[in-house]
Amino acid sequence: MDFIDILKKRRSYYEIDRNLPLSEEKIFQTIEDVLYNVPDANNLQSQRVVVAVGEHQDKLWDAIYDAFGGKVKREKIDSFKAGYGTILFYYDGKTIKEAQERFPRYAENFPTWANQSNGMLQHSIWLALRELGLGASLQHYNPVIDDALRELFDIPEDWVLIAQMPFGNILEEPEAKDKIDIRERMKVFK
Ligand SMILES: Cc1cc2nc3c(=O)[nH]c(=O)nc-3n(C[C@H](O)[C@H](O)[C@H](O)COP(=O)(O)O)c2cc1C
Repeated sequence: MDFIDILKKRRSYYEIDRNLPLSEEKIFQTIEDVLYNVPDANNLQSQRVVVAVGEHQDKLWDAIYDAFGGKVKREKIDSFKAGYGTILFYYDGKTIKEAQERFPRYAENFPTWANQSNGMLQHSIWLALRELGLGASLQHYNPVIDDALRELFDIPEDWVLIAQMPFGNILEEPEAKDKIDIRERMKVFK
């Protein structure tokens, strides 16, 4: 697949299961390669990921359900739990705080840049998973789940949770979504 092809094929996949079309080692290696190569402001390397599979995947989604005290639909949580695993996206607040102290002139920008780098990482991993033939979606149950996950995965106090990405074998292609005229979103001066 060329790059634009993969971009087009990346969708929010909600119908997923655990019948992997490839080894889990290949998935872990791919996530590692993406994490290593995605850029970060000032080369801070502030981004962190946690990958949960197997019983950890089960415990994760049960903990998310519990954190909401029954206020989220069990079927929805189970649809994410049905996936092979989940990638938790964090950035390290300690790295950001140190950068703010080192570069006070840009202090306000660092948290924004950390979030931007995290978004770049999320999208890159989303694309890389799709290139492997896997489907994923992006979820945001934080900050309600932050403490529960900290305890479950022994997450350092300084890590800031940004997003959760359940992934797995694709069971169903999502329907096409409406898009506004691209000319309203891009201007070229030549
Ligand atoms: C920053 C960001 C936050 C998102 N948050 C959620 C979310 O919390 N839950 C969800 O199901 N999808 C979430 N999405 C997915 C978008 O709704 C989805 O990507 C968009 O509607 C386009 O659909 P597609 O992914 O199928 O192309 C998020 C996407 C982005 C980029």
